[in-house]
Amino acid sequence: MDKIVIHGGPRLRGEIRVLGAKNAALPTQCAALLADGPTTLRHLPQLSDVRTMNRLLTGLGCEVAGERTLTIDPTGVGAGSLEAPYDLVKTMRASVTVMGPLLARYGRARVSLPGGCAIGARPIDQHLRGLEALGAEVTLKHGYVETRAPGPEHRLKGARFKFDLVTVGGTQNVMMAATLARGSTRLENVAREPEVVELALVLNKMGARIRGAGTPVIEIEGVDSLSGIDHAILPDRIEAGTFMVAAAITRGDVVLKDAPVDHMHSVIETLESAGVVCQPVPDGLRVIGPEELAPIHVTTLPHPGFPTDMQAQMTVLAVMAKGRSTVTETIFENRFMHVPELCRLGADIRVNGNTAEVFGATPLSGTTVMATDLRASASLVIAGLVADGVTEVRRVYHLDRGYETIEKRLRPLGARIERVHGAKS
Ligand code: UD1
Repeated sequence: MDKIVIHGGPRLRGEIRVLGAKNAALPTQCAALLADGPTTLRHLPQLSDVRTMNRLLTGLGCEVAGERTLTIDPTGVGAGSLEAPYDLVKTMRASVTVMGPLLARYGRARVSLPGGCAIGARPIDQHLRGLEALGAEVTLKHGYVETRAPGPEHRLKGARFKFDLVTVGGTQNVMMAATLARGSTRLENVAREPEVVELALVLNKMGARIRGAGTPVIEIEGVDSLSGIDHAILPDRIEAGTFMVAAAITRGDVVLKDAPVDHMHSVIETLESAGVVCQPVPDGLRVIGPEELAPIHVTTLPHPGFPTDMQAQMTVLAVMAKGRSTVTETIFENRFMHVPELCRLGADIRVNGNTAEVFGATPLSGTTVMATDLRASASLVIAGLVADGVTEVRRVYHLDRGYETIEKRLRPLGARIERVHGAKS
């Protein structure tokens, strides 16, 4: 298994381009299932999760071709089993997002239950309740969710549904299902993440009639069919945020080309409160790290609040800030696994319930570390950039799910970072 080896110290300087967002790509790949013809997606990040989704779509009968620019032709879907098998769902939970489109377009779907994961239990009850509200019959059998649309036509019916809690994947799944339902649907307490707004835009381009994405209520007027489109994936706000923290803690000066500044207000505000300069420039954002960082206080919340996917990286900034910082996690119940690893690098962090108290600035000293999820792995890589000596980050497959060749992209900024192939995990 590969590992990432980092020699800490250099200030990051220069320009880096932010690539397409994994969390926008995955639901858009699923949306292609709804169309009557092929969809072309551009600016796709080259990530293992994107490839896993392609495998799932191919298994369902889609013709999938290309990489950075991808064409998905769903015209062969429908004859086979319409199943998302356990082997794929267990490696990538976002696989469950095929359920809404399959049910809406083909009247049935069989999807493996995802089970828990490293950051928490992560049930899909809200996805299922939303689909049931649209008339779907849902049964759980042998570890799989089987869903069927009602009546001889196997078509969902528009309805009013309120989510008990804000869920990104749930909103996306039920919104996609409602596009082809008969009549109108009103979804309340929906997620307002940019990737939900982006998906609504994609679906409307395909011919759907969706209003309100980006607000707590989404209204959908069902249509009879949708067509394939050509669409460029939104830049990744989490990748951008990760590089911003890297620039900030190394006292660097980095321009992030294509950073989606409008989607990053809470991250920018937090960085500015630490003394980081975030300056809009044409097509992006310039980030300048101060000589001394001030402590921060963050609480993760649904968008437009501070994103949980930036919590681990921002914790590293807190470690480097002078004074007492607090980081509170309210979205996932088990998302502090990076903390013991950061402490092994020398951080002083005390976790009490869902709040981490961070006492900085502590000098970090490199060692071998590993994490059990994607963003935690990213936090260890950026910690390595400021740690004295050599930091080795193991289990790099987590990182590769969400960051395209991170080592090759950070090197031009001056980072001393490389991938060693075939290392033991
Ligand atoms: C998406 C993102 C992930 C991000 C998360 C929160 C993708 C592919 N992944 O994940 O990177 O960290 O949003 O911003 O876009 N929940 C339930 N029942 C449900 C659904 C969710 O209880 O039916 C709970 C979850 O366990 C979690 C919270 O709701 O505690 C938020 O989860 P959700 O927004 O659904 O996250 P994902 O869509 O899985």
